[in-house]
Amino acid sequence: CGVIGCVGRPDETLDVLMHGLSKLEYRGYDSAGVALANGSVEIEKRAGKLENLEAALDGVSLEGAVGIGHTRWSTHGPPNDRNAHPHADCEGQVAVLHNGIIENYQAIKDELQAAGHEFESDTDTEVVPHLIESALADGATEEDAFRAAIRRIEGSYAIAAVFADHEAVYCARQDSPLVLGVGDDATYLGSDVPAFRAFTDRVIYLEDGELARIDEGGWEVSTLDGEPVEKSINTVNWDPEDTGKSGYDHFMLKEIHEQPRSLRQCLQGRVDELGGQVELDELAGVNPTSVQFVACGTSYHAALYGARLFQEAGIPAQAFLASEYVTAPPPVDDALVVGVTQSGETADTLSALRAAKRLGARTLGLTNVVGSTVARECDHVLYIRAGPEIGVAASKTFASQLVTLNLFSLAVTDDHDRESIGSLRDLPSTVQEILDDSVAAEVATAYLDADAYFFIGRGLNHPVALEGALKLKEITYRHAEGFAAGELKHGPLALVTDNTPVIAVATGDDEFARKTVGNVKEVEARDAPVIAVTDGQSDIERYADHVLRVPETHPRTAAVLASVQLQLFAYHTAADLGRSIDKPRNLAKSVTVE
Ligand code: G6P
Repeated sequence: CGVIGCVGRPDETLDVLMHGLSKLEYRGYDSAGVALANGSVEIEKRAGKLENLEAALDGVSLEGAVGIGHTRWSTHGPPNDRNAHPHADCEGQVAVLHNGIIENYQAIKDELQAAGHEFESDTDTEVVPHLIESALADGATEEDAFRAAIRRIEGSYAIAAVFADHEAVYCARQDSPLVLGVGDDATYLGSDVPAFRAFTDRVIYLEDGELARIDEGGWEVSTLDGEPVEKSINTVNWDPEDTGKSGYDHFMLKEIHEQPRSLRQCLQGRVDELGGQVELDELAGVNPTSVQFVACGTSYHAALYGARLFQEAGIPAQAFLASEYVTAPPPVDDALVVGVTQSGETADTLSALRAAKRLGARTLGLTNVVGSTVARECDHVLYIRAGPEIGVAASKTFASQLVTLNLFSLAVTDDHDRESIGSLRDLPSTVQEILDDSVAAEVATAYLDADAYFFIGRGLNHPVALEGALKLKEITYRHAEGFAAGELKHGPLALVTDNTPVIAVATGDDEFARKTVGNVKEVEARDAPVIAVTDGQSDIERYADHVLRVPETHPRTAAVLASVQLQLFAYHTAADLGRSIDKPRNLAKSVTVE
């Protein structure tokens, strides 16, 4: 979910909130709502995308010197108007919004209902305004009432509240991100920086267990017990333009096309100009004897790729799905546990890292978001430097993860494969060649009626195949699966028909590429259409109906190039099908619940 808040621009509060919500919609779009305080608390909220809220606000004058807004990704209760945030108490004295899950809400709700409180929604969040209402009725100040409510709840939260007769916003965080924005005349609140980046570049990251009050005079941070906390102000250095579509139909297409630039940024200053060495100052002293990667979704595919790089360099390494890792964490001994996470906020990944830490592991966060929870909690952090990614389906951040994993492995192992370093340095231009010449759009159009799509690859191209399938299912809603090429014959082959294209990734012409070609012959013999993603070195093209070509290069970078072709294939299939590409149904960019 996304959070925005603003104090100090009395004539523009609603505009600021709506702008913030438009920047945050990628965090959830089951519903959106705002609350403004000006003697009373005015709430407007609607199920569905932000445009529904905009329509509801058309012609309505909603004024107030302080306000909060929310976009929701449902955890409790179906996405409808009633369950949209903010939520109020019985008397309408307070409005509260929340990201996360309140684990003990049922017990609190039973108690409040027994005391006569009436609830309007199915959400866990609604207990908070009612707890506040009880405390106000007992004579507490607004701040004390808010603090008391926060102390009662258990679970994860980024919570914000406004009161009818009180020109301040209160907020608190536990396991869900919350950032303050410090402007010249106004103070903002956001679940992440893009919410208010257009208004200020000065930010304060709140930590778990902290509570903030923002009012006309500025901001004040304290612990839940009321002890003042000193905070420093950080400056973010990216441009608000970076979060616009720049003429592309979708953020995802823009982000796919941004890859030459984002990869250049990722490599900058890290590979010496003569191509001899990789230098990562942030990893000084990191010398792992084994590595465990934990990650989810796209980042898990990057982790699988990373684990292979370390294995190739002779370091035992394994990739785990973060949500499974916690069910039985393996012995960590002296392993370095690496959380791969674009957002740095994924709850499953955070839990896995925390579990590893409890077992005594050193941890490293490989993330895109500076100041994210993972970045702050890990012993070491390595940024992928991809810039903000708005499309829910990851594209440029996947490529930057793969490249950063290469740099990571080259920097901390004895593997100094000069050829791979050179090919990494050339990636921005080789990716540009693909963007200029790809025929993925035409190939996509040829298969719109397919029953299912199967992606296969071997070695480093196995995670590429898995990611190709994930991309396609995320944004097209069509059935797609990725398999290790050798596994196809052990079951999935039963599903192969003349209407199930098999997208085979085979680069190079080594023993393994040739085996993949063998697997392609097996599907071709069953009349399945074949789309080959290849650099032309093997003879896979002989068995292919279509070819998505990548320049000939080192196998490690070939995997990055192949994944760009698969991003384009998924994008154009989704565009032809008229899907909601940047905001696919049921998905959110950053999932802060387990
Ligand atoms: C969500 C997104 C996926 C993403 C995954 C992990 O499920 O929809 O696209 O891959 O989270 O996100 P992270 O920020 O940890 O990389």
